[in-house]
Formats: sequence, C-alpha cells, structure tokens
Amino acid sequence: MKTAETPQSKPRRRFLRWLWTGLGLVVIAETAWVIAAFLRPRSKAAKAGSSLFTAGTIDEFAPGSVTAFPAGKFYLSRLDDGGLLALHRECTHLGCTVPWSESEQRFVCPCHASTFDSRGRVLGAPATRPLDMLAVRVENGIVKVDLSHRTRRVAYHASQVTKP
Ligand code: FES
Repeated sequence: MKTAETPQSKPRRRFLRWLWTGLGLVVIAETAWVIAAFLRPRSKAAKAGSSLFTAGTIDEFAPGSVTAFPAGKFYLSRLDDGGLLALHRECTHLGCTVPWSESEQRFVCPCHASTFDSRGRVLGAPATRPLDMLAVRVENGIVKVDLSHRTRRVAYHASQVTKP
C-alpha cells in the first residue's frame, strides 16, 4: 500500500537526495585522494639521498659506546670490536621510545620493561624481536646513517654490523 504524499514530504525527499549525493561525493573525493597519495612518487629529497644523516667522524664514537641521535630517532652503537650499528629507538613491543641506560649498559623500555643489549638484541620480554636497524656507511671517516628505511629484524646476525 502506497502512503499518501504530504506537502512536506517533497522538500524532505529532495533534501535527503542532496544529502546522500553530497556524502557520496565526499566519499569519492576521499577515495581519490587516498589513491593519489598512494601512487604519488616519493619526494625528490628522499630519492636524492637527503635522508642520509651525518652522525660525525668515526673517531667521535669510542668502541663500546652508544650515542643517541634524537633528531634521527636512532642510537649509534659502536661495538667493542669497532663495528657500527644504528638502532631505531622505538621499542619492538608497542613502540615506546627506549632510552639507553649507561649504568646498566642496556636499553630499558619505560613502558613494560623490555630490555635490549647494545646490538639491539632482546634481553628481557615482553619484546620478542630486536630493535629495528638503519643502514650505516662510513665514507672518508664520516659515519652516515640512512633514515629512509628501517630494517625489521627477527634476529641479530653479525652481518648486520658495519665494519669501518
Ligand atoms: S613498549 Fe616497550 S616493553 Fe612494551
């Protein structure tokens, strides 16, 4: 059975049609924006290597030291044998920033107490995998860290260490 059309129902129907059309256009615009952002090539700066962070000269980092680089969100770990590892400061449990404890000689997460050694290996749960690492290179005695890509590790391997 069809309901009788009242004088008020026509403008209401028109308003609802405009509302749905407007909402549909918003959804289409947002979808197009997301797709365009996904397909857009990475910035020229990233391609040109401007994500290369200059940490300093190799002599500035004593063997057995861990140096924080807050601007780059990483630590440069100089191992006892002189090797270098750049460790991302984000805890692999739930992402808290992990400070280095000089007195304990380990990273201690303030959130749930995961601990990591100077190679980023897990010493104490709840984290289950090592700290992410960033590529390190030494050019003419200058230590450079590539901030453009974090490597997710499931385990530590000696091959991850950069030998100067
Ligand atoms: S976020 Fe670090 S232990 Fe949970």
